[in-house]
Amino acid sequence: MRYLFLFVALTVANAAVASEGMVILQKRCVSCHEISGPAAQSVQELWQRKGPDLFYAGSKYNAEWLKKWLVKPRRIRPAGHHPIQHIQPGKKRDMVDTTTLRPHPALSPSDAEEVTEALMKLKASAEMMGTAVFKGGSISASFGEMVFDKFNGCMACHEIEPGYGGLSGPEVYTAAKRYQADYLVSFITDPQAWNPKTPMPNKHVSAANIQKIVQYLQALAKENWDEKK
Ligand code: HEC
Ligand code: HEC
Repeated sequence: MRYLFLFVALTVANAAVASEGMVILQKRCVSCHEISGPAAQSVQELWQRKGPDLFYAGSKYNAEWLKKWLVKPRRIRPAGHHPIQHIQPGKKRDMVDTTTLRPHPALSPSDAEEVTEALMKLKASAEMMGTAVFKGGSISASFGEMVFDKFNGCMACHEIEPGYGGLSGPEVYTAAKRYQADYLVSFITDPQAWNPKTPMPNKHVSAANIQKIVQYLQALAKENWDEKK
């Protein structure tokens, strides 16, 4: 009887602390991803992280995208998580040495579902989110590109379609599919609030232009480049 009680108590406790998704994360993901935080506090610590932080995943990702990507991951950062290790200077533009980039591990659809559920429960702090939110609206792709490229120089590090744009940051033509609009506004407003050592600069873009940039990222996402490749 005593043992039965212990068994029941342990099972209940386990259900509370470790969902199936959390067990998979612990087993297969934490060697490369931080799931409990905080962000890297030094450049050295940042270099030791083999993948992007996931400890605020629930405030960042669109669950639908996450579930699909985990089953069929495709590259997001053209030159990997630490581009310096994979970029070679080329004649016309820098080249990515893709032979040194490894494919991302894939999950079965049911594991992806469990992991997505567990990740969506990991929320960012109020300090990270800040107060700026996406207010909606839309913009033409051509005007959006002017704000993104000409006014703010964002294209130096980001591709706005496959093979067009900088290589050191993540592609942005899928950013609005991957990420919640409020996260995008918040991250562009203050990247260092999310990751104090991130190489993404705070360009001090005006609040109004950040809204336009996120509208532009949504317009880019509608091109579905990731489904054409
Ligand atoms: C060997 C290291 C490694 C392992 C293990 C690993 N990842 Fe990753 N992960 C990466 C790298 C590197 C990237 C960046 C890929 C890119 O940008 O193309 C990444 C990207 C991601 C992204 C997209 C992040 C973003 O914001 O762009 C998610 C989500 C993710 N991983 C989840 C997982 C989950 C869940 C697991 C466990 C099932 C896992 N990863 C296992 C290295 C790893
Ligand atoms: C010097 C290179 C550089 C410039 C210039 C730059 N970024 Fe970034 N950006 C990065 C890097 C590197 C990351 C990845 C940050 C990380 O993982 O911490 C990033 C991340 C992002 C993200 C998160 C999206 C994602 O796909 O992970 C967005 C959105 C973004 N940048 C938008 C912008 C905008 C808008 C501008 C112009 C105002 C800009 N960036 C200028 C390097 C740059």
